[in-house]
Amino acid sequence: MHKLYITGGRPLRGTVKISGAKNAALAIISASLLASEPVCLENIPFINDVSVLLDITANLGVTVERMGPNMVKISTPDSISTVTPYKEVKKLRASNLLLGPLLARFCNAEIALPGGCNIGTRPMDLHIKGLEAMGAQITLEHGFIKGSCSRLTGAKIYLDFPSVGATENIMMAATLANGQTVLENVAKEPEIVDLANFLNSLGAKVRGAGTDVIKIEGVQQLGGGRYPVIPDRIEAGTFMVAAAATGGDLLIEQVIPTHVEPLIAKLREANVKVFEQDDNIRVLSDEPLKAIDIKTLPYPGFPTDMQSQMMAMLTMVKGTSVIVENVFENRLQVADEFKRMGAKIKVEGRTAVIQGIKRLQGAQVKASDLRAGAALIVAGLIAEGDTEICNIRYIDRGYEGIEDKLVSVGAAIKRA
Ligand code: UD1
Repeated sequence: MHKLYITGGRPLRGTVKISGAKNAALAIISASLLASEPVCLENIPFINDVSVLLDITANLGVTVERMGPNMVKISTPDSISTVTPYKEVKKLRASNLLLGPLLARFCNAEIALPGGCNIGTRPMDLHIKGLEAMGAQITLEHGFIKGSCSRLTGAKIYLDFPSVGATENIMMAATLANGQTVLENVAKEPEIVDLANFLNSLGAKVRGAGTDVIKIEGVQQLGGGRYPVIPDRIEAGTFMVAAAATGGDLLIEQVIPTHVEPLIAKLREANVKVFEQDDNIRVLSDEPLKAIDIKTLPYPGFPTDMQSQMMAMLTMVKGTSVIVENVFENRLQVADEFKRMGAKIKVEGRTAVIQGIKRLQGAQVKASDLRAGAALIVAGLIAEGDTEICNIRYIDRGYEGIEDKLVSVGAAIKRA
């Protein structure tokens, strides 16, 4: 089992290029199954989550061809298997995003209840409620979600919570439904907008993505095409925080600054200098940082996927910072690993109170989910001495070439 070894104390300096967005790629690959003609996806990050999803789709009978380092061609015939086995799905929660496309195009889907990160209960009731409102019959049997329908019909659906996955699943399903679907209180994340743009590029009629209400006019079939996935705002954010925490000066290229606006605001509040240009961001951290409070919320609120990395930074910021995690109840558990490195953090329910200390100490720590793993890297970069991170399979799920990119900007990190 590989581990990451980090010697802390080196500021990150130089230029780093951001890969395609994991969460957009996972949704867009799933949506490709709706297309009757081949689709070519560009700027796909080759990370474990993407490989697992491509393997799952290939095993259904979809033709998946890697066309280049970050390009994949997906051709889905008119008849494929619609059953995804547990052995594959347990590796990737986002395989639940196949439910909507399979039902909409093939009128049948059997998805093993998914696995993925260990960050809370992560139910699928909103996905199911929406698809049922469109006429699907859905049952939970022996660990599988089984769905069937004749052609789905458009419906008016209100989400009790703006779930990213539920918005995506229902939006994808609605593109081939009979009539109009109006989806209210939806997620507004940039990945939702990217998915809608992709679907529209295939001939779908999706309006309003990025606002609270999405309207989808169903069409008979979707065509093919070429589409580049947006840059990964969470990877960009992770490098921004790592630069800020290490007292670095980093130019982050291939990023859409508006997508990281909530993070930029918090970094500036913490006394970090952030300069935005067209598609790059410079982070300069040359003054003592200030304690701040953070509440995670659906976009455009502060992203839960950046919360753990910010906690790592705040462990060494003078004063008291408070983090409230409103999206996933278990996402503060990384605090226990920071405490092993000497951090002073009190967690009660969804709130973490962080008393900044002078210096974390390197230690052996364990990643418990993808973003906790990224946060432990940030902690290792600022700690005194050596840090050893195990369970790095979580990190590999979502970061393309993380240690190569970090080494190129001055970090002392290696995999062994
Ligand atoms: C997606 C992202 C993940 C990110 C999260 C929140 C992907 C592949 N993953 O996950 O990186 O952290 O958005 O930004 O895009 N919920 C329900 N019922 C449902 C669905 C969700 O109660 O049917 C709850 C969840 O338990 C959670 C909250 O809604 O508390 C947010 O979940 P959701 O937005 O659905 O996250 P994911 O799509 O799983």
